[in-house]
Amino acid sequence: MSLLERVSALEAEMAKAKARTAAEVEQFRVAMLGRNGAVTELFDAFKEVASEEKRLLGQRLNQLKKAAQARIDELKAGVQESGPSSGPAIDLSAPSLTEPTGSLHPITIVRQRIVDIFGRIGYTVSQGPEVEDDRHNFGALNFPPDHPARDMQDTFFVHPPDPARKENGGGPDGDLALRTHTSSVQVRVMEGSKLPIRTISPGRVYRNEAISARAHCMFHQVEGLYVDKGVSFADLKGTLDYFTKSLFGQDVSIRMRPSYFPFTEPSAEVDMSCSICGGAGCHICKHSGWVEIMGCGMVDPAVLVNCNIDPTEYSGFAFGMGVERIAQLVYRVPDLRMYWENDVRFLDQFTAGTFRS
Ligand code: DAH
Repeated sequence: MSLLERVSALEAEMAKAKARTAAEVEQFRVAMLGRNGAVTELFDAFKEVASEEKRLLGQRLNQLKKAAQARIDELKAGVQESGPSSGPAIDLSAPSLTEPTGSLHPITIVRQRIVDIFGRIGYTVSQGPEVEDDRHNFGALNFPPDHPARDMQDTFFVHPPDPARKENGGGPDGDLALRTHTSSVQVRVMEGSKLPIRTISPGRVYRNEAISARAHCMFHQVEGLYVDKGVSFADLKGTLDYFTKSLFGQDVSIRMRPSYFPFTEPSAEVDMSCSICGGAGCHICKHSGWVEIMGCGMVDPAVLVNCNIDPTEYSGFAFGMGVERIAQLVYRVPDLRMYWENDVRFLDQFTAGTFRS
């Protein structure tokens, strides 16, 4: 075979070459253009040919070399397009690795919603300590010295109360306990703020209760307080009506029942038409059509006096609700203990998006 014939044969061979992987493309390149490759060999042989043949053969060899390079590039491109079976290229169709994302705790979601709803009508957020003294948790709130809430059966004391001081109208400020309600923050705010006051206080509270599906020794409350000139019970009712409709929808209504709290006079318990059955009766509302959602009332003048506010000039209302209770109505959680177990299968079900508002 003449050299010209060998060039043509090699050209035909190259055109048929195949490669499935990048490694095979490289093999082909070495076989053609490598130090001992077929094309290189022909160039070596070219040196030996007679000069009258050189012109044509030289042109053909240069064409051959270009064709070899073009074929290598073509094979490379083919390998990249065809995906994972042909080597290290990326498979864009493979499913991605999904990182599990966390979600907010249902109590956090509901608390944020409550804060947001009151924020829209000008309520600030205030907080107080969870380890509280007797004056802020009980005394200034008008709890008589022998009130059962002051009993160790109900309250977790950090320092046991001093019975000698108790007889003198309330324990000393040194009697520390885990606060039993967020009403303690009312006192701190009234003592330390300029009037008027419009604030809510979300936080944890503690009670010495046996843990069951319906009771827990720690839970969350949101306290509300509004003190200004001329604040009336009608303002209280309007505010709570706005709140419940904002949280549960325009279809719910509220009613107030007379009640008693040492720190409010008059006091009331607030019921909401059952948001689960629409008032028709279900097991959540015990077939009454109403569910209790909070306590409230007009701040007792004695409490205002305890906080250096003149009750002849100012009046106020207060309310307090359990966040777990509200969340239960929103999410229908059947057992209070679930809020504290932090089982991710439970927590995973709550996202801000699923909240009915
Ligand atoms: N502190 C009360 C409790 O823990 C709830 C409460 C009732 C708060 C009436 C208030 C109120 O501010 O006016 O049960």
